[in-house]
Amino acid sequence: MFDFEFHNPTKIVFGRQTVARLDTLVPANARVLVLYGGGSAQKNGTLDEVLGALGSREIQQFGGIEANPTYETLMRAVELIREQKLDFLLAVGGGSVIDGTKFVAAAVAYQGEPWEILETYGAKVTQALPFGSVLTLPATGSEMNNGGVVTRKSTQSKLPFRSPHVFPQFSILDPDKTLTLPPRQLANGVADAFTHVVEQYLTYPVEGRVQDRFAEGLLQTLVEIGPKVLNDPDDDVRANLMWVATLALNGLVGAGVPQDWSTHMIGHELTAGYGIDHARTLAVVLPANLQIRRESKRRKLLQYAERVWHITDGSEEQRIDAAIERTRSFFESLDIRTRLHDYDIGADAIDALIAQLEAHGMTRLGEGKDVTPDVSRRILEASL
Ligand code: NZQ
Ligand code: ZN
Repeated sequence: MFDFEFHNPTKIVFGRQTVARLDTLVPANARVLVLYGGGSAQKNGTLDEVLGALGSREIQQFGGIEANPTYETLMRAVELIREQKLDFLLAVGGGSVIDGTKFVAAAVAYQGEPWEILETYGAKVTQALPFGSVLTLPATGSEMNNGGVVTRKSTQSKLPFRSPHVFPQFSILDPDKTLTLPPRQLANGVADAFTHVVEQYLTYPVEGRVQDRFAEGLLQTLVEIGPKVLNDPDDDVRANLMWVATLALNGLVGAGVPQDWSTHMIGHELTAGYGIDHARTLAVVLPANLQIRRESKRRKLLQYAERVWHITDGSEEQRIDAAIERTRSFFESLDIRTRLHDYDIGADAIDALIAQLEAHGMTRLGEGKDVTPDVSRRILEASL
């Protein structure tokens, strides 16, 4: 039997023209810092719309948060908040801006050197500034969860943190905000959300029937809309992508069931070392990871084969092979390459990647804590 606590305080406001709702969602007397990325929100008018909705509130802006946000940049926002005594944060962007905002919210009041927040994976965070988000890229689920990932440029460390204090108070999900996304980012969104569900589902059975059926529903939805997302998506496809990506990592499908996350942790090293988009690292690592760990994941792989890909013919080994192959070709169908060689990374890179995993304490990964550096090495070798 499983047990869990589930608490998710984030209010979701979903639909067209919902940015105007900021006026009631942000306290009237708030001193607001609006945080955004490298310029897309300025170019496509979202930033102006946000500023308009905030009306006469005291507002400061902080732009330039990178994809894969850096500690170095975010600490400048922390200084600005302290200096200007700002008390409410509003993230306008994708996972990077929202994650960055979470870190900033926690760092402002942190006693000590804020990088410790990452070194301790969030365990020492005791408070954070309140914040909300306007989501412009459906992918990470950051808009409705309490996790973030921050990179320290100087050491090439990309580390995750979680804290009950960094749930967004609200997130505005207007599917029209995805209209300016290039196909590459839309594809990334599908692949990231898909892998989030897999990391929480494809482990070993614990009779979590509802969690399994929810997870399979999300995966099937992604399989169904995946091709449409790249091929001139209509409004309904955009809306479904946005909602499925949020549900993929808001804690619901993972409640009470074993979770893996080794694909993510290995993938983070590929982003930190080579700048590969987060979702693309997952598309490289996941098929190889499933292959290498097929014994410990056997029961769930067979369930995944049958319920997600409708594979029922052949021996167990053949069905597992087919499910892994379908996973790989799903990513490839999104125009996402799934081999390290496709990103100009060869076998000579693996030692350094393993050393970084070790340096970051990622030595007992996975649902069984059995993904040691040696197993990670075999996964990377199988990804070549
Ligand atoms: O920076 P700007 O100019 O805004 O451009 C961004 C960026 O270049 C652009 N973009 C965003 N919205 C747009 C747009 N371009 C046109 N129109 C729009 N509406 O897209 C690019 C990528 O944005 P980014 O926020 O980096 O992408 P994503 O949402 O995929 O976030 C990736 C980050 O989230 C972390 C990843 O590690 C990575 O750092 N993750 C966070 C998680 C979480 N908080 O739970 C879980 C995930 O597994 C993931 O690790
Ligand atoms: Zn992810």
